[in-house]
Amino acid sequence: MILKPRQREQVLPLPVALISTVSQEGIRNIAPWSNITPILRPFDEIVMASWIKRDTLNNIRQTKEFVINIPHEEMVEQVILCSKNYPPEVDEFEVANLAARSSQIIKPPGIEGCLAWMECTLVEEISRKNYSLVIGKVVHLEVDDRFFNENGDMDFEQAKPLSIILGDKGMWFTSSFYAGRYADYAEMFLGKKDETPVLT
Ligand SMILES: Cc1cc2nc3c(=O)[nH]c(=O)nc-3n(C[C@H](O)[C@H](O)[C@H](O)COP(=O)(O)O)c2cc1C
Repeated sequence: MILKPRQREQVLPLPVALISTVSQEGIRNIAPWSNITPILRPFDEIVMASWIKRDTLNNIRQTKEFVINIPHEEMVEQVILCSKNYPPEVDEFEVANLAARSSQIIKPPGIEGCLAWMECTLVEEISRKNYSLVIGKVVHLEVDDRFFNENGDMDFEQAKPLSIILGDKGMWFTSSFYAGRYADYAEMFLGKKDETPVLT
């Protein structure tokens, strides 16, 4: 079967993040975001795609700062609440009953209860007619110690980061589980030996 252009996005499982921003007037905003990816390694920069009509984009343009929060699956109802098109004067922390978590470097707060908080500053906006690509620099990244070991590896079966699979008329919220195979980065290089670490 060949998918029509409008069905194409359905083949990719996507991450779910919550982006928190503050407007010039100080109104706090939260929006779920899935078109988001690190720009290679190390994780210094991140790119997110935004439709033009987004308070999030306006706030980032105004303040040049945003937090990418990673929610776990139990926050799914708040994710859906924050996806509603509230006018810019609505404080979405209040609407979704989410507590603010002070950021270390930037003004917009993160969201309590998330797994990780990436404080970002705007590096560049690549504008197209209907959308923009926003490149951010990750200036501070903190995680909840309960879900990460000292190497920074996530215990994803406990942390349950949220993801989505899009459908024709809606989206399925999904979660990560171990598929039964670990691959050391060394496996990408010919002749190097795989060493499977013991996860504790
Ligand atoms: C799981 C999920 C992922 C989303 N991903 C994006 C995205 O990548 N880019 C985007 O422009 N809108 C995305 N949206 C839609 C926005 O979250 C939604 O329009 C929201 O109301 C925007 O809020 P804002 O105007 O306060 O920024 C997503 C919505 C959901 C539920």
